[in-house]
Amino acid sequence: MTEGIKSNVQKLKAQKNAIILAHYYQRPEVQDIADVVGDSYYLSKVAKDCSQDIIVFCGVKFMAESAKILSPDKRVLLPAIDAGCPMAEMADAESVKAMRDKHPESKVVCYINSTAEVKAVSDVCCTSSNALKIIMGMDEEEIIFLPDKNLGNYMQKKLPHKKIILWDGFCITHKKVMPREITTAKELHPGIKVLAHPECEEEVLDLADFIGSTGEIINFATVNDNEKYLIVTEQGVLHELQKKNPGKKFYTPYGSMTCINMKKTRLEDVYDSLVNMRHEITIETEIRDRAYKALMNMHILGR
Ligand code: 13P
Ligand code: SF4
Repeated sequence: MTEGIKSNVQKLKAQKNAIILAHYYQRPEVQDIADVVGDSYYLSKVAKDCSQDIIVFCGVKFMAESAKILSPDKRVLLPAIDAGCPMAEMADAESVKAMRDKHPESKVVCYINSTAEVKAVSDVCCTSSNALKIIMGMDEEEIIFLPDKNLGNYMQKKLPHKKIILWDGFCITHKKVMPREITTAKELHPGIKVLAHPECEEEVLDLADFIGSTGEIINFATVNDNEKYLIVTEQGVLHELQKKNPGKKFYTPYGSMTCINMKKTRLEDVYDSLVNMRHEITIETEIRDRAYKALMNMHILGR
């Protein structure tokens, strides 16, 4: 059954000139069928530069929307239409405009985990892999950072000469991790290295040996000699980590870190999306044009 779906997907992909992109949080079988698996920055770059006519985006809505904004002439499909990101819904364009009015000297940096409408009223987008470089490269001292408070706070600690105005957004998956889970793992596994995503709470990040995006976490564990790692991000990254590092041991915090939205995409949905061209992302031209500038600024400044 699964093998049948996989070969049908491969055939359809070739017939329709499509590319399948998958985030590291996707189900293992979805990652395995993808042409490219990556973190949110890398996937947006591939979406911007690829030559295919159709992009099947196995991820959440803001990722597929970003692909459509960057590649308006391509058809972008999101196999699971209800795969949203609760954090992205924590900022709306009207509130961002009100915040801008309150701080006229500042520039707005919005995390890619945001709606197209919010991107349209922001100056620059960023992901966790390039936020530091982007904010560091900006002339403005005052930056409104949204929606992720934890990533914004982490930037503030790295860049004390800037004034980062924080938003009250967070990731429900990363927020659940408690510092006790990290200290327990350190007690149980002496020598373990703790690798955490910056969406975690400050008290958790303070206990980490390395903080980075999903791609950076995978890279860190792959190039380092250490044999044991506590992976403090969504458990989907374990698939790539184990593939790349068969001899190393990976542990997770004892409450499982699962993003239910990232897990909504199944192989059947990927097949269905290619057969029936479901579910196609559309974005109003005016929103798209303004959001394009913010996303392109990310690609220019974050290079
Ligand atoms: P990355 O940019 O690290 O891939 O993260 C995306 C995300 O949604 C994290 O929760
Ligand atoms: Fe959104 Fe968190 Fe899921 Fe990432 S892990 S897509 S930030 S809910």
